[in-house]
Amino acid sequence: MSAISIPPGLIQAFDHVDRLAVLTGAGISAESGIPTFREAQTGLWSRYNPEDLATPQAFQRDPRLVWEWYAWRRELVSRAAPNAGHLALAALELRFPEFSLITQNVDGLHQQAGSRRVLELHGNIRRIRCSAENITVEAWPDTQEIPPRCPQCGERLRPDVVWFGESLPRQALESAWQAASSCQVFLSVGTSSLVEPAASLPYIAMRAEAKIIEINPQPTPLTPQADFAWQQPAGVALPALLAALQNPFTSTGALSA
Ligand code: OAD
Repeated sequence: MSAISIPPGLIQAFDHVDRLAVLTGAGISAESGIPTFREAQTGLWSRYNPEDLATPQAFQRDPRLVWEWYAWRRELVSRAAPNAGHLALAALELRFPEFSLITQNVDGLHQQAGSRRVLELHGNIRRIRCSAENITVEAWPDTQEIPPRCPQCGERLRPDVVWFGESLPRQALESAWQAASSCQVFLSVGTSSLVEPAASLPYIAMRAEAKIIEINPQPTPLTPQADFAWQQPAGVALPALLAALQNPFTSTGALSA
């Protein structure tokens, strides 16, 4: 018997569902020890606001500062492991004929958890690219210079992430749009639903008459619009959801057929 209560009707919303789209944000990695963007930062970086560092202007003004902030986050990410929420999503991928996992996270933990197809809207912090040519650099340059320079053209290297004011990778965004407009259930997990264009995806799904489920311990602008707002940590709710879909008898006591 599951200790966590699932909102009434939520499991039934998955009846006869073949097409599930999931959007994740920083909240799903919080239980892996990676601070979200809008929570206070600790230690050395506590006096900086991440939204002031994640911009092309900040990189132009102070490339060393921005590079070092990402180096610190990369270090956190490299020590982190996927949590029960990431693992449950990897298992859910196998249960739906059409499953799309769209993430705003740059930490790569979905892939590490075993998710096979991940649409990364904001890039990946584990990669670097040339700030001039947009080319991903495979080998990390062996240099003391911060930031290091592109081995091809000598311009500065930068993290391969999307900064505020920049365009999202076109292919990933188009696939995400397509998934949102064709899914039957849209699951929004651990995102503040504030940053566009990702924040529009649940509304695209809503227009296509998908059921909207939000998993987030805190309310967001999406909460009042969601069919189900499940106010639990992702690492608790997603394994409970997976277990309930695998065995509807143990979840709510109600039969889902
Ligand atoms: P935010 O930091 O804005 O929001 C994290 C959300 O996760 C909040 O709504 C929290 O309530 C929720 N949360 C915290 N712990 C949770 C848990 N254990 N389980 C589930 N939810 C939890 O992160 P994002 O919405 O991802 O962009 O932010 C979107 C984008 O804005 C980021 O990708 C980043 C950012 O600034 C760029 O860097 C371009």
